[in-house]
Amino acid sequence: MIIFKHPDDIRSFILAKTNKGVSAGFVPTMGALHSGHLGLVTRAKKENQLSICSIFVNPTQFNDPKDFEKYPTTIEKDIYLLEKAGCDVLFLPAVADIYPNGIQPRRHYELGYLETILEGKYRPGHFQGVCQVVNRLLDIVMPGSLYLGQKDFQQCMVLNKMIGTLGISTEVIICATSREPDGLAMSSRNLRLTEAERKKAPGIYKALLSIKDNISAGNVEHLAHSAKKNLEAGGFKVDYVSIATAETLEIIQHWDGFTPLVALAAAYLNEVRLIDNILLNTD
Ligand code: PAJ
Repeated sequence: MIIFKHPDDIRSFILAKTNKGVSAGFVPTMGALHSGHLGLVTRAKKENQLSICSIFVNPTQFNDPKDFEKYPTTIEKDIYLLEKAGCDVLFLPAVADIYPNGIQPRRHYELGYLETILEGKYRPGHFQGVCQVVNRLLDIVMPGSLYLGQKDFQQCMVLNKMIGTLGISTEVIICATSREPDGLAMSSRNLRLTEAERKKAPGIYKALLSIKDNISAGNVEHLAHSAKKNLEAGGFKVDYVSIATAETLEIIQHWDGFTPLVALAAAYLNEVRLIDNILLNTD
């Protein structure tokens, strides 16, 4: 695996390859890698001649400074895991490489409704920061394909929208959520859970499954409501449990019995905020 730190170096390396017709698949991450991230890398490798991963803990997407300070970093282990997964290129920029003019936003991304709900509502500014960094990374890496995890369902929609609006010629490929054997969605933030919190954490997935198991046409709001109550009873502080249309993320109270749906949740165990989602009526 070749490690690049400077944007100009990685850009000219990749350009030399893609100019010869080599396909490039890109997996942006914030590190503290787990099997979910590595699944994306493996898929990028399988579907492209060149697999590229980036590790950059992006300061502009953290609305909570404490969350940024405490974000886990395990860089040596990450490099080892990426080598083992057969990743070809790792991009490890510093803040000044990504934001040469400082971290203040230079532009506003028009995300409309998507930014007003769920993660957008509870983490003001978060998606602007995500767009800012991924836009910059795509300018540097210029991949044919961008691999994202369904774990961050709304992030996938936001980035799809940004890429479409800006006319960037990168295909977005969404990969299924990797889970621990007890159902907990893999996440770098899981490293911050105490043993007792870790035992409770699969409650989020179970709450989403209870919605999936009980959903039928008609009123669905009561399902989201009782999932929230169950989580609270299990020691979570809940930001939201919502049922939304999978294509537009419109939050619904009534279901026609046909429209593809997704159930999404965000909840804290003490200081650690966890999110998860499952599709309700599609494979
Ligand atoms: P991070 O949380 O490190 O996630 C990097 C990528 O891995 C994202 O596309 C995320 O959805 C995916 N991912 C995380 N957990 C997963 C799991 N359990 N199963 C499958 N995929 C999973 O998301 C970010 O970083 C940042 O916002 C980023 C896009 C890198 C911009 O800074």
